[in-house]
Amino acid sequence: MNGLAVVYELAGLTPGQPAFRAAIAAAADALRRGLLVAFPTETVYGLGASAFDGDAIARVFAAKGRPADNPLIVHVDSAETAKSLAAEWPDAAESLARAFWPGPLTLIVRHNGRLPRAVTVGLPTVALRVPNQRIALELLRQVGPLAAPSANLSGRPSPTRAEHVMADLGEWVAVILDDGPCPVGVESTVLDVTVRPPALLRPGGVTPEMLEKVVGKVEIAPEARAEGDISALAARSPGTRYRHYAPRRPLHLLELPGDGAAAWRSLQRYLVTLKETEAPVLPARIALLAVSEAWSALPASLRDELIGFDLGPLSEPQAVAARLYQALHDLDRDPVAVIVAHTLPERGVGLAVNNRLRRAATRIVACDAHDTRDPGREGGARR
Ligand code: TXA
Ligand code: MG
Repeated sequence: MNGLAVVYELAGLTPGQPAFRAAIAAAADALRRGLLVAFPTETVYGLGASAFDGDAIARVFAAKGRPADNPLIVHVDSAETAKSLAAEWPDAAESLARAFWPGPLTLIVRHNGRLPRAVTVGLPTVALRVPNQRIALELLRQVGPLAAPSANLSGRPSPTRAEHVMADLGEWVAVILDDGPCPVGVESTVLDVTVRPPALLRPGGVTPEMLEKVVGKVEIAPEARAEGDISALAARSPGTRYRHYAPRRPLHLLELPGDGAAAWRSLQRYLVTLKETEAPVLPARIALLAVSEAWSALPASLRDELIGFDLGPLSEPQAVAARLYQALHDLDRDPVAVIVAHTLPERGVGLAVNNRLRRAATRIVACDAHDTRDPGREGGARR
């Protein structure tokens, strides 16, 4: 801890410009001296330390308040560098790296012992990825592999902007490289390729559908859906055991079985009930984190009473994912009493959004078939 981070704004600069080169040089210098540097990736900002510097890695754990049994992802500039850290490189790793690197996919492989124990926390495997971000790649080319978890305090929403990093970790990092908002907005997909079929441990930017086109069947581990009691999951990815990504306010998550009119009616019923039962004891307002379709389905009178965050239309799930953490950060600043959110259809990047929401939730509300049945068949809508 030595004062506040120096922030370099790089959005709009090209790699040839002196200011760009000076920022990368300052970050590289800090990393070589064992300091921590926050850098952008296409998913979220990372809290980087040289992957071969055990003391710097220890500071990463201290800064985040990260549980000591949760290993870090090692970021590399290429598949070649990744292989130099692996004891085995299965065919699946080869074809997935060719298809998705650089990109939001992290591969779990057996390591060859070159990395310090601090990174792998004693596991026989290591998590590796090549990020698709110009600043991250330039830094990795200059300084070599970087261990980098998301640059947030453990348990809090991940940072998709440099301001989020500054708020959580400004006193711990020497340099923040700011390249504006992260385009993917949810963390990388974590896939274990030491087993067959490969096991999806954390859903992310690369969807199961995309993976299966390249390697055939992929097993979706229970912790990837995050249904049920998280702490009871036999987690193969240690980080998935903890409540995570959580805003400071209570978050109620509605598990919606669909995305039609009946689903939005369930959401409306929940909001009305919450208002009636809890409003008298809640001086502050209810916030709704929902897709555009849900917002339009609410009566204007109810809509006006809510603090809102429109995540965008369901037809653009990628854009919904990219706005998720920004929304959670923004709502933390508003004086809201409770945040209500809903799940997306469980496919594509919806899997990643639902996983993060379930881990962030303080209450998960099941909307069963009865709740969401079309009122036409029920003989009238319940209010
Ligand atoms: O998109 C991302 O992956 C971001 C950016 C910065 O690259 N990083 C990130 O790191 O999300 P972190 O530390 O927040 O999440 C790493 C996840 C954790 O769930 C951890 O348990 C898992 O990867 N992991 C790391 N090493 C592992 C291993 N050997 N076996 C299984 N899971 C592992
Ligand atoms: Mg994280």
